[in-house]
Amino acid sequence: MKIAKAGVMGWPVDHSLSPALHGFWLTAHGVEGSYQRLPVPPDQLGQALSELHEKGFVGVNLTVPHKEAALGFMQRVTPDARRIGAVNTVFIDNEGALTGTNTDAFGFINNLRAGAPRWRANNGPAVVLGAGGAARAVCFALQNAGVAEIRVLNRTAARAQGLADALGAPLVAVSWDEAKDALKDAALLVNTTTLGMKGQPRLEIDLAPLPVTAVVNDIVYVPLETPLLAAARARGNTVVDGLGMLLYQAQPSFAGWFGVKPEVTSALRAHVLASMA
Ligand code: ATR
Repeated sequence: MKIAKAGVMGWPVDHSLSPALHGFWLTAHGVEGSYQRLPVPPDQLGQALSELHEKGFVGVNLTVPHKEAALGFMQRVTPDARRIGAVNTVFIDNEGALTGTNTDAFGFINNLRAGAPRWRANNGPAVVLGAGGAARAVCFALQNAGVAEIRVLNRTAARAQGLADALGAPLVAVSWDEAKDALKDAALLVNTTTLGMKGQPRLEIDLAPLPVTAVVNDIVYVPLETPLLAAARARGNTVVDGLGMLLYQAQPSFAGWFGVKPEVTSALRAHVLASMA
């Protein structure tokens, strides 16, 4: 049998955790497949994608800086990827046609539900910090889940407004100065900015107005417990770290490429964490 090949295209791609993650599942399920790092500079993306089929690839993940640009090189784009405006997973059919999908929203919502089983979309408003690509996937997931109000706060207010305009109701752009009011009755707070990440400035936000019943999720996972999550945990909020989003977003990709639905387990988590050390 021919080995089904997959991988992750990025520039740079050395730090991607996806090879550890998919490698774990390939071994665990005894799949005749491989998953490799594919360093591809931005100006070679189209060429690299077009050569995948003849090289035996069944698909790839895309990471920084290719997720948005890839839309232009797909033969087909799923509605989710179109709406999120980015492709993170590509499926290649037997004729070599490329389908671009996005599993980030799936990864976010499944991680949230796993980490905070009592969270419900109708628990109350969600506050999303940030308005970049990650925020867009998170807001899309919350919109699909049926959250009645999604408040987007961003350093650059125009970007928050742009995101609210792009996805529509129930997103509303809220000025960072109004964070206090935005948090007052929130049931969920999600940080999608890079603040709090190792080497980046801290996220400065006063959690005092946030109900202790709210769930706090940081999509930053280096460190695993960000200062935001530590502060939220200390005051009694349920916290959900960001590593799970990465693990869950990989599930439908692996299933589509290799025909086996893998599970997100503590062993997988431990393996990926060990690969980060
Ligand atoms: P991604 O695709 O991972 O979301 P991005 O599009 O670069 O990355 O978005 C990064 C987010 O972090 C943005 O919301 C950005 O705010 P701006 O839109 O104002 O740039 C936010 N961010 C990054 N550094 C920041 C900082 N020092 N202070 C406040 N917000 C910051």
